[in-house]
Amino acid sequence: MSATVRSLGYVILGCTDLNAWRTFAPHVLGMELVERAETSLRFRMDEFGYRFQVEEGAPEGVHTLGWAVKGADELTEVISRVEKYGYTVTHHGVGSALANARNVVDIATFTDPEGINLELMYGLEQALTPFVSPVGTTFVANRELGLGHVFQLVGDVEKYNELYRDVLGFALSDYIGPATFYHCNPRHHSFAFVPVMDDDRKRLQGIGHIMLETTDIDGVGRAIDNMYAHGAKEKATLGKHTNDKMISFYVETPSRTQIEYGTGGIFIDDATWVPTQYPSAHYWGHDREGL
Ligand SMILES: [Fe+2]
Repeated sequence: MSATVRSLGYVILGCTDLNAWRTFAPHVLGMELVERAETSLRFRMDEFGYRFQVEEGAPEGVHTLGWAVKGADELTEVISRVEKYGYTVTHHGVGSALANARNVVDIATFTDPEGINLELMYGLEQALTPFVSPVGTTFVANRELGLGHVFQLVGDVEKYNELYRDVLGFALSDYIGPATFYHCNPRHHSFAFVPVMDDDRKRLQGIGHIMLETTDIDGVGRAIDNMYAHGAKEKATLGKHTNDKMISFYVETPSRTQIEYGTGGIFIDDATWVPTQYPSAHYWGHDREGL
């Protein structure tokens, strides 16, 4: 398989309170606000013009994932595989309204089995100025590694194995119980999923969390302080994950989708990596109240 998805390029969330995001993303997460329009905001965390787009209006939570491929030939090849597996794809084309709206060169869209919009694209626009975090945080995010990872609650495990492994070209990282972890670049995982049979929970938390990684533990510590200072809701205490070794905590965003905010994730070298499994997701910590 020559053409594959290369990284998580952007995420788009709906919310009911855009102003809450104006405080939360810069002052808790350390992202840089990019003013855009009355009903949407964008946030930077690296060299790119944006990584998060937040739109006022229902539904709350992540509704769109932007997956980056390398270029035109790769986009064509991945689109043909998506179609071969029975998905209906719209290839919007270079210079299309959607390509311009997303600030990418070209883009194709389809819907995953749970109704999340998946956008395959290349050429996400670079910013003209360096990323400046209002709280001095630097992220492990760039054009190779993407912005972080996605953890999704799904109904049909085999459909997601097929979509992310066979169609989009991800490789297996490992398993923790019923959860499966996949990588598409050296980041330990860019996509993971766990089967959940509860339709209400899937509807509310389809994308369970997005992970953002800082270059050092001080970035995580500052975010914990800032979460308390700004009254954001802690969803899980500081802890260490078994498989990617990430030291992280979880916080609820104004869109209800959770952010895993961590540091110290390992990288995978496909030449030597051998998938394994773990009996728990945590060495310590990550105490959680409710979901
Ligand atoms: Fe995670």
